[in-house]
Amino acid sequence: MPNRSLQNHPFLAACRREAVRYTPVWLMRQAGRYMEDYRALRAQYGFLELCKKPDLAAEITVTPVERLKVDAAIIFADILLILEPMGVGLEYSKGDGPVIHRPVRNGKDLDDLKDFDPNKELSFVYEAVKKTRAALDDRVPLIGFAGAPFTLASYLIEGAGSRNYTHAKKLYYTAPEVWHCLLQRLSQLITKYLNCQIAAGAQAVQLFDSWAGCLTPGDYEHFVLPYTRSVIAGITPGVPVISFSTGTAGLLKHIRAAGGDVIGLDWRINLDEGWATVGHDVAVQGNLDPVALFAPPKEIRRRVADVLDRAGNRPGHIFNLGHGVLPETPVDHVIAMVEAVHELSAR
Ligand code: CP3
Repeated sequence: MPNRSLQNHPFLAACRREAVRYTPVWLMRQAGRYMEDYRALRAQYGFLELCKKPDLAAEITVTPVERLKVDAAIIFADILLILEPMGVGLEYSKGDGPVIHRPVRNGKDLDDLKDFDPNKELSFVYEAVKKTRAALDDRVPLIGFAGAPFTLASYLIEGAGSRNYTHAKKLYYTAPEVWHCLLQRLSQLITKYLNCQIAAGAQAVQLFDSWAGCLTPGDYEHFVLPYTRSVIAGITPGVPVISFSTGTAGLLKHIRAAGGDVIGLDWRINLDEGWATVGHDVAVQGNLDPVALFAPPKEIRRRVADVLDRAGNRPGHIFNLGHGVLPETPVDHVIAMVEAVHELSAR
């Protein structure tokens, strides 16, 4: 059952394209390394360790809500956590980003993946969701999240971040049956995982397809869209789904076709043009360039105004960056951005 509290909060109302008093704003990676509090905790604990300590994960989730005055919290976790119980050797190594020690490159590797029950194995995430809801005390809604089937599959196949996704694409060129099997398996796990976060108290969910921008429209349609669509279709009814991707200005029609109540737009397309492309019968989220937060506050305000102008007071706009906050971002600039959104959008 979706949790009914806070249903009229501007963030959840905007997800449903209802009129709001001001444009709600939150940021991807709002709890990350650009914050001193987070860096202080990271000096003591590893990243995975923090994810697995629900009290600390809840504290990290709530801090930016208080500090930045954003309109939603996003649970402190990571899209790759779901890969760990598959037995592929997930490690957050210093400097290089996460690595998978035993990547999936063929049918045998796929058969070797461990089956697991997301209801049981990832209980530390659900515990963190519960503790965060208690700590937030209904001040703002809490967003749960997962990686989308394509982005998770490419991480699993490449074994790390990638520039060209050659291994992932080679798998669907040469062994499409293995590809389809893997994506189907991931889709089922992701759907269960998100629904468990919802059962624990998440009031909206975001699906991160951060790497979908590397795909041709035809490949997206054939190798990815059916799986993203099945995840979105399987989410507990009544809970808004935000479909996020980057570099997908040329794929927006297909992304829309996969479903979701809110479509994420990045800064490589103007918000008005992106919204017209996905259709005004769906909400949108975005789309300030994360690097714009390095500009002086006056320039940030000008760019916030531009995004809001392009949204044109249409119901169903959630302000966000086009991608996550970068680690060197000045916190006072983030605060200035949030204030500008609230002031300039007040109706
Ligand atoms: O948004 C939030 O504040 C919630 C937490 C969150 C994290 N990762 C914490 C994190 C979210 C929503 C994510 C999503 C995520 N993780 C994505 C999709 C979003 C995106 O940015 O495209 C991806 C691709 C990942 C995988 C991942 N996790 C990478 C590539 C890295 C290393 C690069 C980096 O930014 O550090 C991580 C590590 C990670 N995930 C950190 C955090 C706070 C940094 C870990 C540290 O403290 O060293």
